[in-house]
Amino acid sequence: DKGGHKHFMAKEIAEQPTVIGNALANYLTAEGHIALPDPGVDFNDIDRLTLVACGTAYYACLTAKYWFEQIARIPVEVDVASEFRYREPPIPDRTLALFVSQSGETADTLAALRYCEGKAARILSVVNVPESSIARESDLALPIHAGIEVGVASTKAFTCQLTVLLMLALKAASDRGTLSADALADHVSALRGLPALMSVALEQNGAMQNTARRLSEARDVLFLGRGLMYPLALEGALKLKEISYIHAEAYASGELKHGPIALIDKHVPVVVMAPRDVLFEKTVSNMQEVMARKGKVVLISDSEGLKEAGEGVWASIEMPQVHNAVAPILYALPAQLLAYHTAVAKGTDVDQPRNLAKSVTVE
Ligand code: M6R
Repeated sequence: DKGGHKHFMAKEIAEQPTVIGNALANYLTAEGHIALPDPGVDFNDIDRLTLVACGTAYYACLTAKYWFEQIARIPVEVDVASEFRYREPPIPDRTLALFVSQSGETADTLAALRYCEGKAARILSVVNVPESSIARESDLALPIHAGIEVGVASTKAFTCQLTVLLMLALKAASDRGTLSADALADHVSALRGLPALMSVALEQNGAMQNTARRLSEARDVLFLGRGLMYPLALEGALKLKEISYIHAEAYASGELKHGPIALIDKHVPVVVMAPRDVLFEKTVSNMQEVMARKGKVVLISDSEGLKEAGEGVWASIEMPQVHNAVAPILYALPAQLLAYHTAVAKGTDVDQPRNLAKSVTVE
């Protein structure tokens, strides 16, 4: 049942304020403490995290690396499961291995998990399907409470994965005492504020549709972001190529000069994801380099950011002001909507894109 929407993907995008609310309710106590299902985990016993996944779940892991390192000061390694499993990396003592999978049945991710058995101190998973193989074979499975996801292009599972991973990073920070009580409370209230902000972001649908119509003419699209916006740029590019079949690539903004700037000309739209945060000025200067070469910038930022840097851009999309740490969860929405409306404008099969399967259970 598409609930009145044209596609499951549209329905699942629209459900995000609700499912994020569910995920939060399942992990946050009334006092704002983070409660994990038993048998919990004490991050004082952990020196290192290894995060492994495929596709969109891999980008959720890349985002989580910033959180765990910045908030909980734990060194993090992130890898795609198909590389990890055959590289057979050494797993030092006191490593927590964490596997992220919507389906819980992805063959490479499951094989990577099995490789860690008997080596890692603890095996955790973040899954949408609690009775899946990956959930069953972990010491502790953290459900993301997204509800069934039908669209092949993952949307609500991604933001729910991010939400659970951020809560886990906050739990790690509180165990390890790396965040003041005030800062912790700040993060929790930012998480609690997300569903409302997401509803505001979804109201930008019209602006998104207009921009998408223009994007649908492009042959190549670049995505740029810094810090927490970098993994999200990767996810935005993946979404766009999966369902619109437009060639899309993402780079860390700082990498622009190291090669990709050679691609820029008046035919190439460049989606820049940049909330007005401490890295904003840097991203804006990269964006200006793109504009100087006639690249068409789509700037996704907040009102302050758009006021400061929105002049001369090809299109802009306004997001509400948001706490820096939760920004990737909110900015996932315009990334998804841009891909969705571009695919609709091109007339592709949004829910069943060619050559793709919802769950990749063979290598
Ligand atoms: O079920 P999983 O989360 O393990 O699936 C991983 C990827 O196959 C999946 O995220 C894929 O990249 C999606 N099509 C992304 O939209």
